[in-house]
Amino acid sequence: MASRSQRVCLNIIWLSFISILHCSSTLANHDNYIVHMDLSAMPKAFRGQHGWYSATLQSVSGNAGANTNIFNNISSSKLLYTYSHVLNGFSASLTPAELEALKSSPGYISSIRDLPVKPHTTHSSQFLGLNPKSGAWPISKFGQDIIIGVVDTGVWPESESYNDGGMTEIPSRWKGECESGTQFNSSLCNKKLIGARFFNKGLLAKNPTITIAMNSPRDANGHGTHTSSTAAGSYVERASYFGYAIGTALGTAPLARVAMYKALWNEGSFTSDIIAAIDQAIIDGVDVLSMSLGLDGVDLYEDPVAIATFAAIEKNIFVSTSAGNQGPFIGTLHNGIPWVMTVAAGTMDRELGATLTLGNGNTVTGLSLYPGNSSLIDFPIVFMDECLNLAELKKVGQKIVVCQDKNDSLSNQVDNIQNASVSGGVFISDFDGLEFFLQSSFPAVFMNSKTGDILKDYIKIENNATATIQFQKTELGTKPAPSVASYSSRGPSISCPFVLKPDVMAPGDSILAAWPSNLAVSQTNSKLSFSNFNLQSGTSMACPQAAGIAALLRGAHPEWSPAAIRSAIMTTSDSTDNTNSDIKDIGDDNKPATPIAMGAGHINPNKALDPGLIYDATTEDYVSLLCSLNLTMKRIQTITRSYSVNCSTSSLDLNYPSFIAFFNAKESKSVQEFQRTVTNVGEGVSTYTASVTPLKGFNVSVDPDKLTFKGKYAKQSYKLRIEGPNQMDEETVVVFCYLSWIETGGKHVVKSPIVVTSLGTEAPS
Ligand SMILES: *[C@@H]1O[C@H](CO)[C@@H](O)[C@H](O)[C@H]1NC(C)=O
Ligand SMILES: *[C@@H]1O[C@H](CO)[C@@H](O)[C@H](O)[C@H]1NC(C)=O
Ligand SMILES: *[C@@H]1O[C@H](CO)[C@@H](O)[C@H](O)[C@H]1NC(C)=O
Ligand SMILES: *[C@@H]1O[C@H](CO)[C@@H](O)[C@H](O)[C@H]1NC(C)=O
Ligand SMILES: *[C@@H]1O[C@H](CO)[C@@H](O)[C@H](O)[C@H]1NC(C)=O
Ligand SMILES: *[C@@H]1O[C@H](CO)[C@@H](O)[C@H](O)[C@H]1NC(C)=O
Ligand SMILES: *[C@@H]1O[C@H](CO)[C@@H](O)[C@H](O)[C@H]1NC(C)=O
Ligand SMILES: *[C@@H]1O[C@H](CO)[C@@H](O)[C@H](O)[C@H]1NC(C)=O
Ligand SMILES: *[C@@H]1O[C@H](CO)[C@@H](O)[C@H](O)[C@H]1NC(C)=O
Repeated sequence: MASRSQRVCLNIIWLSFISILHCSSTLANHDNYIVHMDLSAMPKAFRGQHGWYSATLQSVSGNAGANTNIFNNISSSKLLYTYSHVLNGFSASLTPAELEALKSSPGYISSIRDLPVKPHTTHSSQFLGLNPKSGAWPISKFGQDIIIGVVDTGVWPESESYNDGGMTEIPSRWKGECESGTQFNSSLCNKKLIGARFFNKGLLAKNPTITIAMNSPRDANGHGTHTSSTAAGSYVERASYFGYAIGTALGTAPLARVAMYKALWNEGSFTSDIIAAIDQAIIDGVDVLSMSLGLDGVDLYEDPVAIATFAAIEKNIFVSTSAGNQGPFIGTLHNGIPWVMTVAAGTMDRELGATLTLGNGNTVTGLSLYPGNSSLIDFPIVFMDECLNLAELKKVGQKIVVCQDKNDSLSNQVDNIQNASVSGGVFISDFDGLEFFLQSSFPAVFMNSKTGDILKDYIKIENNATATIQFQKTELGTKPAPSVASYSSRGPSISCPFVLKPDVMAPGDSILAAWPSNLAVSQTNSKLSFSNFNLQSGTSMACPQAAGIAALLRGAHPEWSPAAIRSAIMTTSDSTDNTNSDIKDIGDDNKPATPIAMGAGHINPNKALDPGLIYDATTEDYVSLLCSLNLTMKRIQTITRSYSVNCSTSSLDLNYPSFIAFFNAKESKSVQEFQRTVTNVGEGVSTYTASVTPLKGFNVSVDPDKLTFKGKYAKQSYKLRIEGPNQMDEETVVVFCYLSWIETGGKHVVKSPIVVTSLGTEAPS
């Protein structure tokens, strides 16, 4: 298991991925607020919302400052954005007095403070089973009619991954634009990259004195280029990271269009800008939104992603989000929002690394992404235990040094070996986050202690031990795969525990995708390395893969709702790996992964194309869920924007393709029941029979256990009943099983995870 100090190190690496500056405002009293207004209170004199909000702001800054008069517009309040789709309201920079005055203005509903946001491929399409001859790619025309909007750090338009060779005309319904700015103008867009906009009024209001280095849609970070090309990058032959992972790079939906909405900045990221980006994406006409970002521990009615995506779902836009990189700890999940897809990250069947050929002829392999091409041939190799004594290491000279990670010292060891100027380092460590150390700028190889023992034994008995290291090794078909990546955040959702999250897992580990050619991919004091493709790990990389698959399904089934697409992806996902055993969790000692870690399973696009049955949900169903969460009407309205919310039907039991039941003495009964309705999306008459795998300590039954559908789009309902002790024993946090509806005489199996947990449902306050 990863221990604390390495965990901290890992988090820092992840955060530096997109540097988040918690800049405090220079005008100490000011803050940005996102303000919800009741449109029905708008006086008729105003033509539109913008005029009304400006006037409202003017009046509150007049009220707030004793010395203000109408000729003196040093009014400190400032309108940042008027939002018209994701919510009725605006964002503004306000003093506390102005905020107070605003609260008694006509039409004011509520306000939330602007918050900082955390941002969170050659082989992955093959690993996902996508191929040009059959299945999701040809049936969806590779996503060519679908527009994927990506809210991220911008785009590097010169990348080969945005090459539009052979692409059809841009869909005529598209209303987006390519905005000009620093090193960017509309001539950089084409039939692949069809939109590029940027949003930073919130950031600038928070930090009026900063200068934004790249004030345009151009990516100065790399994250957005990587995620957008992962979702929809064009074919690029012989792409690689310095010879690693070499192959044809392409996105999951290789002919889908990309529209970039840059709202994450190296200078900082704020929710007011993200809401503005989503608002614009809805107006422009995207079909799918991919958002590899999230906020820590916010309630649904304060989460801008939750609020803004509710409007997107109403407009039939599918939303894919990342689960976050704070695993393997339970309850760390971001974006646990009932109406979006929340994606966990897994590994692929690929190992990138190096081989060590020992003086005795034996060979051991390890992980490495060292970019240099020169092998180390017949170098003396020595074992230096923890490698913590730099002075001693500096005396070693031209040798390969082997270090053993005993006490979370790996990151110190790596620094020391680099500083000691030895020929190379071999690091023996069982740390489950090694992927974050691999992009070294000096010859380095990482291996687990089992392999390390072979190396140590050789060094011990051979008093003149030598080794040859060859880098750029790409091994395919490694087993077992996929496994849940340790860093992938675990559910349940804090903001809505009654809906099981995450939903699915997609490849997120060492994903090769486009990268700005002027940004170093590996960096040391001495040397910067550049590459047009970079390997990145995180749920940020898994999210766009799911977005790409949703684009393929939208292309193949234009009539499906976002909930139907999500259901198809979930119920057809795989819960076994390439050794035919249960998918393992690297963050939990390689025990079978629970749905809290991987959701329904590993995404399988070709099966998702034809799921048999789907669990659909409408916005009314989501409202009914919100009503049952006992939120105040104002808070519900913050999300729904509708001021006539009807809470006469209220149910925690959303028609979702997964189940989570809480059995803790405080709030549970010894029996819990769920009601579900499934819709036949297969052709003709069909019959399905329920099958439930055993659930330790509980009885699970389904009534009726046989469903017959008279034709396409016919619906049937059933009840799932879980009977057990009032309270689970304390050590057992999560038990799980699967319900499968198996088609009689057909090929469809519609599978749902069932989780029973002793965790509580209270949100942290
Ligand atoms: C009032 O505000 C506008 C727009 O911000 C600005 O152009 C103008 O110069 C200001 N007038 C005064 C008197 O400060
Ligand atoms: C965009 O910039 C390029 C080079 O800077 C220039 O050649 C081109 O004319 C510009 N296009 C537009 C539409 O401004
Ligand atoms: C190593 O070789 C690969 C493939 O031959 C090449 O793409 C890469 O640029 C080389 N790396 C360095 C650091 O020279
Ligand atoms: C492990 O590391 C910690 C902090 O670096 C140190 O305080 C402790 O003594 C070390 N333990 C051992 C057994 O080396
Ligand atoms: C060792 O290297 C790291 C980064 O590579 C650097 O921050 C540190 O100051 C160096 N330490 C010494 C003692 O040279
Ligand atoms: C150790 O190996 C080196 C290089 O292979 C060789 O030059 C040297 O003579 C060897 N020393 C002993 C003691 O075998
Ligand atoms: C909502 O309130 C009702 C009545 O007090 C209670 O029975 C129910 O458990 C509450 N629901 C949630 C989700 O807290
Ligand atoms: C709320 O919905 C219920 C059932 O759909 C309906 O009977 C009732 O009239 C509605 N109430 C209002 C105020 O619209
Ligand atoms: C499960 O059902 C069996 C048979 O009806 C019963 O004996 C047992 O007590 C039940 N177990 C639980 C945990 O309810």
